[in-house]
Amino acid sequence: MTGYIASEKPALTVNNLSTWFYTENGTVRAANSVNFTINRGETLGLVGESGCGKSVTARSILGLIEPPGEIVRGEIRLGSTNLLHLEASKLEKLRGRDIAMVFQDPLSSLNPVLNIGLQMVETIQAHRKTNRKEAKRQALLQLDRIGLPDPERIMRSYSFELSGGMCQRVMLAMALLLEPEVLIVDEPTTALDTTVQTQILAELKRLQRKMNMSLLLITHDMGVVAQMADKVAVMYAGSIIETAPVRKLFDHPAHPYTRALLRSIPRLGQNDLTPIEGQPPSLFNLPAGCPFLKRCPETLSSCYDYMPSLEEVSPGHFSACLTAHKVELPGVSSQ
Ligand SMILES: Nc1ncnc2c1ncn2[C@@H]1O[C@H](COP(=O)(O)OP(=O)(O)O)[C@@H](O)[C@H]1O
Ligand SMILES: [Mg+2]
Repeated sequence: MTGYIASEKPALTVNNLSTWFYTENGTVRAANSVNFTINRGETLGLVGESGCGKSVTARSILGLIEPPGEIVRGEIRLGSTNLLHLEASKLEKLRGRDIAMVFQDPLSSLNPVLNIGLQMVETIQAHRKTNRKEAKRQALLQLDRIGLPDPERIMRSYSFELSGGMCQRVMLAMALLLEPEVLIVDEPTTALDTTVQTQILAELKRLQRKMNMSLLLITHDMGVVAQMADKVAVMYAGSIIETAPVRKLFDHPAHPYTRALLRSIPRLGQNDLTPIEGQPPSLFNLPAGCPFLKRCPETLSSCYDYMPSLEEVSPGHFSACLTAHKVELPGVSSQ
């Protein structure tokens, strides 16, 4: 837990963010009225099934949505700076130095015709006054710290010579070298063995403590969330449907989707896994009511009428479910 370091000072605030893609086949409502705040030194775990809008949310924060995508409304604040109103050149300056992202698809972020070492050295030198030798030393050290074997060889390699997981770790090393205030990491440990995973998470945590860095950790691994996050936001069909401090979410999940999600993934001491039946709705045609309606075992008739908003069910714990609102009394937990 990093809770004792985290302050109440917001580092990143996302207010009412909606990002849609106007495709030939219709409008994909990838993110809908997304809200969250990450304080200094804090980690927010963003979880949800594939295609629910996690990466689109992250790319929106960095101003990296391209046509036919568009941020249709919302506010994104880095400290007190509203990123959506920033000139492109100013945003470019902030990226990397103040807010950085390690993408889920790392190959697209590396230059295929420059070796890794050159890219790392240039990245460091673009943001800091450092000579080449010192930049190279820092790069080697950081590669080693995130557990990449033989950093010298990695530095001489080109991206196509490395695996996807290795490229992502190179990107992580680059991002960490710039010591950003806010770091977004998209699925950092997917397809990595547990030893490497543990090493990466430990290094992330070490640097987070050292720099009081805020972390938006996108993952579908609840074990990673339990280990790293202070609070969690659960996303479903483009909306955050529950958010809570991490222990509350695991111990008293308030939304039926969160309960189903927790039952569907392996956790320590839990062997009876139940997959979630059915599919999430298409983001082209979101139903008028709750998007979880078709898969939910606990529906009320009003669930068909409108998408419930997030309501506080206990201090700091919000759920967008009419049943949770109904049964929940102040101070009474949801299970
Ligand atoms: N460039 C794009 N054009 C059209 N639809 C897109 C584009 N990028 C993402 N989407 C759609 O937005 C939705 C959310 O995607 P994404 O954020 O990548 O999901 P996640 O990261 O949660 O797996 C998906 O339905 C995806 O198909
Ligand atoms: Mg994604």
